[in-house]
Amino acid sequence: MPLVNLKDMLTHAYQNGYAVGAFDAVSLDFVTGIMDAAEETRSPVILSVAESHFDYFDFELLMSAMETAAKRATVPVAIHMDHAMSLDTAVRSIRHGCNGVMVDASHLPLDKNITETLAVREMAQGCGVPVEGELGYVPGVEGEDAERHPGEISYTTVDEAKTFVERTGVDFLAVSIGTVHGRMRGEPVLDYDRLKDINDALRMPLVLHGGTGLGDEQYKRLIENGITKINYYTALAEAAGAQVRENSATGKGNYTGQMTGAAEAIAKEAARCMALWGCHGRADAVLQQCQPWTPVKHLIIYNTTNADPANDQTMIKEGERVLSQIPGVMRIFTGKAVQDDAGYRYTWLVKFCHPAVIDSYREHPDHVAFADTHFRPIAGDRISIDYQ
Ligand code: 13P
Repeated sequence: MPLVNLKDMLTHAYQNGYAVGAFDAVSLDFVTGIMDAAEETRSPVILSVAESHFDYFDFELLMSAMETAAKRATVPVAIHMDHAMSLDTAVRSIRHGCNGVMVDASHLPLDKNITETLAVREMAQGCGVPVEGELGYVPGVEGEDAERHPGEISYTTVDEAKTFVERTGVDFLAVSIGTVHGRMRGEPVLDYDRLKDINDALRMPLVLHGGTGLGDEQYKRLIENGITKINYYTALAEAAGAQVRENSATGKGNYTGQMTGAAEAIAKEAARCMALWGCHGRADAVLQQCQPWTPVKHLIIYNTTNADPANDQTMIKEGERVLSQIPGVMRIFTGKAVQDDAGYRYTWLVKFCHPAVIDSYREHPDHVAFADTHFRPIAGDRISIDYQ
């Protein structure tokens, strides 16, 4: 069961005073390196994918690799959508296998941030997926993210944090207390008093964005004051980049030669963080505490009263189009019995990401409209069962 509920994972970390790394992956070398580090150090790990990096890879292909990596892992893994900029991205990320979503509306005024975060949280709740919101603004002043996070730091205040969490119901809060995305110019100055006050007021897992470039003592104090998830990317990209440059300098000219050792360089840096942040050796304890993340298969077998089978095909195509867009639906298989004498001629097999989708799907207006208009009137003879 290595794909686990992210909320359980971070609750364990919060209660036991350590932080889990959420490492942004932009290629297979990152997925391999991050997972190797987690296995080697026996750490829980969050494989993260950021919308700001979508230009660098094919999202669906990378998600399939992450899902496979999580399935074959022996340590607890969650797959997280980092910096989703819209409700659509959040829905799409859940469809492709993310079991945690961060909605980034932190550049907007408080009220608008609340409205946008709440919309994602309500959708995600129907999918059983926990949500991270961000309050205050963590800019990127250097590194690969710089253009996507322009501007100045805006610090999270305690009062706004309380209002934000109460009104949005987010599961985790990303705070702005002095870090930036990418490398900082000069020594980062972190506002620990502010962080402590936020932690005292909220008592929930807090998230640090811009994890690269802090000293050992800084991480320790951040974790002591409630930081439970540390987002980390730039240093992994730098480690891989340095390896590629070294390969180039030593004459390894072709693609595979240039990339040799990149995954290992990423693994080394990720493992260093896991040890530093106290999550090494926690895998088994976390596995015992966490609900596995197990999808549900919603199976319907049915006969129709249509005289013309072409009308069945029209109904099925319409259903595939409409139902595949409902949040929490991962895949739809439709089929016709191979045997002519089968008791039921047709099937729908709809894969939900989580048992919560059984109810939210049934009640979703698009499902209700399709079922009442196109399906139920002709498919009274049916059996419907949810399997796990
Ligand atoms: P760094 O690139 O500074 O490690 O930050 C990553 C991050 O916060 C992604 O959300």
